Amino acid sequence: MSQDPIAVSPATGNTGAGSTGDALENLLQENRKFPPSAGFAADSVVKASEYAEAAADAPAFWAKQARGLLSWHKDFTETLDWSNPPFAKWFGDGQLNAAYNALDRHVENGLGERVAIYFEGEPGDTRSYTYAQLTEEVKKAANAFESLGVAKGDRVAVYLPMIPEAVITLLACARIGAVHSVVFGGFSADALRSRIDDAEAKLVVTADGTYRRGKPSALKPAVDAALTAPGHTVGHVVVVKRNGENVDWTEGRDLWWDDAVGGAAAEHTAVGHDAEHPLFILYTSGTTGRPKGILHTTGGYLTQAAYTHKAVFDLHPETDVYWCTADVGWVTGHTYVAYAPLINGATQLIYEGTPDSPHQGRWWELIEKYKVSILYTAPTAIRTCMKWGREIPGRYDLSSIRVLGSVGEPINPEAWMWYRDVIGANAGKNGEKKDDPAPIVDTWWQTETGAQMIAPLPGVTATKPGSAQTPLPGIAVDVVDEMGESVPNGSGGYLVIREPWPAMLRGIWGDEQRYKDTYWSRFDSMYFAGDGAKFDDDGDVWLLGRVDDVMNVSGHRLSTTEIESALVSHPSVAEAAVVGAADETTGQTVVAFVILRGSAVDDADIVTTLRNHVGKEIGPIAKPKTILVVPELPKTRSGKIMRRLLKDVAEGRDVGDASTLADNSVMQQIAESLKK
Ligand code: WTA
Repeated sequence: MSQDPIAVSPATGNTGAGSTGDALENLLQENRKFPPSAGFAADSVVKASEYAEAAADAPAFWAKQARGLLSWHKDFTETLDWSNPPFAKWFGDGQLNAAYNALDRHVENGLGERVAIYFEGEPGDTRSYTYAQLTEEVKKAANAFESLGVAKGDRVAVYLPMIPEAVITLLACARIGAVHSVVFGGFSADALRSRIDDAEAKLVVTADGTYRRGKPSALKPAVDAALTAPGHTVGHVVVVKRNGENVDWTEGRDLWWDDAVGGAAAEHTAVGHDAEHPLFILYTSGTTGRPKGILHTTGGYLTQAAYTHKAVFDLHPETDVYWCTADVGWVTGHTYVAYAPLINGATQLIYEGTPDSPHQGRWWELIEKYKVSILYTAPTAIRTCMKWGREIPGRYDLSSIRVLGSVGEPINPEAWMWYRDVIGANAGKNGEKKDDPAPIVDTWWQTETGAQMIAPLPGVTATKPGSAQTPLPGIAVDVVDEMGESVPNGSGGYLVIREPWPAMLRGIWGDEQRYKDTYWSRFDSMYFAGDGAKFDDDGDVWLLGRVDDVMNVSGHRLSTTEIESALVSHPSVAEAAVVGAADETTGQTVVAFVILRGSAVDDADIVTTLRNHVGKEIGPIAKPKTILVVPELPKTRSGKIMRRLLKDVAEGRDVGDASTLADNSVMQQIAESLKK
C-alpha cells in the first residue's frame, strides 16, 4: 500500500476541490430509492425489529439464530468466547453436523421428496436430486472417503466443475469431519500443487473435465501434473466422469467416482462435531507468494450462512427456486450454494456452463424453464449482459423473479438500474412489465467474513442503486480514518468491523501471525477489511473499492469505482476498468480501459467524448489522461477484473502473472488492439 490509499481527512478527498468535489459528491449521492411494496413487506420473512433486537444484544441474537436455524447434536452453553482476540469461539461447547443439518433432518421432517438440486449441464443434460436422494449420495460419498482412509480432521482437495458432485463432495467431507479445500478449476497445476501442499491434503476429488462454450475442457491432467513431482501427501484421486474424454490413469492411486462412491453403502450416521471444528479452507485469489488459506469452522459459519440466506433473499423455501451463479471454487459457491440453501431446505438450480453457451440467452432460458425466483450473481455478469443488449433477456419470461442479488464488487447505479428494469421488471416475453419490480440486494462480504455482512433486507429497506446500504442485524460495521477514529457521514475511510461475528475466519491455515498481521494489526481491536467505504447522509454504506485500487492524482483521492461508474453511465460504454498509473508530476494518472457497445465503435471522437463525459460526471480532475478502447477486460474466473495486469499495461511494463485469468488470451488481445 504505497499510496495514501483513501480520502480520510474529515473534509474527505474533496478538500478545496470546488466543483470537482461537488460533482464527486453528486455521483455518490444517489437520490433514487425504491421501498418494498406493501405486499412484499407483509410477506417478508424478516422484519425491521431484528435490527433493534440484535443491537440490544448481538450474541444473544446470534444464539437465537443458531438454535432456530440449526439442529444441534449437543446444545451450547457459551455463545461467544472472545477472551483471546482475534481468536473467536462461537457456540464453543456445542456440537453439530453440517451435512445432517443440510440433509438428513429435512428428510426426517418429511421433506425428502422436495427437490434440493436441479442441475443443468452446459450441453443441456439435466439431473435433479430430491433431499432424500441427495442425502443418500452424500452418505455413500462419506463411506467411500472413509474407506480411502480419510478421517476427521484430514484435508481433502477438491478440483471440480460446477456439477452436483461438487456439493456432494463438500457435504460428505463435512459429514465425516474432513476439511475441504476447494481449488478453483481455473487454477493451474502449480497453483493446485501449492494448495495441496499447504493443506497437506490426503485425497483429491476431481473430474475428467467439464464443458466450456460447447467444447470439452480438461481438469484431470492438471491434477496429474500437480502430483508428478514426489513429496506430496495425496494417497488417492477420485475422478468423476463428466465429459468422457480420455485421461491418464495411475493405478492404485486413481479411482472412478462411480466405482468408489457408486459401490459404497448408503447408510452412514452423522455424528456431532465441535462447533469450532474446521469446516473448510479456501485460498484467496490474487495473492502473491505463499497462498493464504482462509479457515472457517462449523457452528458460527453455518449460523450466519443460514440466517443471511433467509433474511437477505427473503427465502420462502416451500415455493422459491433459488439460483446462485457462483462457482464452487470461490466463497459464494461455498456459503450460498453448498451450505446455506440446503441448510434452509431450499430448492436450487446449479448450472455448469457459461452464460453465452450455446447462445447469449442461456441464463434467461434457464430462469424461464426452472421458474427461478431468486437470482444471485455478480455485477460483471450484469454488465456483460448489458453489452449483449436488453432484447436478449426480453425474449424470455422472467416473471418468476422475486429477488435479485449482487455480489463481488460494487455495482454501479447504471448496472443496478438495468438489472432492475430489464430483469427485475420483466413480466413476460412480450415486453410486459411488472408494476413492482423485484428488489435488488447488493451484498458486501468477503472470503474472510464467510457470509454476507452489509446488504439491504428486501422487505424492509428502501433500496438505493449502487449502495450495499445497511450492516446486517448483529454486524458492527464502521468507517474509520488513519487513526481508527470513526469518520462523519459523507467522508471516505477504511471499512472495519468492530465486533466479532459468527462466520468470521478463524485464521489463516498454518499461519497465526499472518492472520493477526493482515487483519487485526492495522487498527486496534478492529477487523480491517481492506476496502474503502463511506456512509452517506442517510447512513447508507457505499463501498469504494479495495484501498489498494484507490488512486491519488495531484493530491486528490479518486476511487476507481467512481470513475468506472461514470464511464459506464455513458451510452457508448459497455464495460470499463480504471487504474492509477504512476506519474512523476501528479503521483498517479487515471488510465481507463473501455469496451464499447456495438453501436459506438465507429465514433472517431469517442475518447474525447468519454473524457468530457467523466469531466461532466465527476470533474476535470477525474478525466482519464488515457482512454484505451479494448475488446475484452482481463477477469478471473470469479469475474473480478485484474486491474494489476491493466496497470502493467498502463505503466508500460511486461504483464505480470496472468495465470488466474478466466481466458488467458485476453492480455494478448488487448496488446494487439493497442498496437493498431
Ligand atoms: C469486494 C466475495 C462492493 C470487496 C464475496 C471485498 C464488494 C472483496 C462487494 C471480497 C459488494 C464483494 N460491493 N465490493 N457488494 N462484494 N466486494 O473474498 O472489495 O472474493 O473486499 O468475496 O470483493 O472478495 P471475495
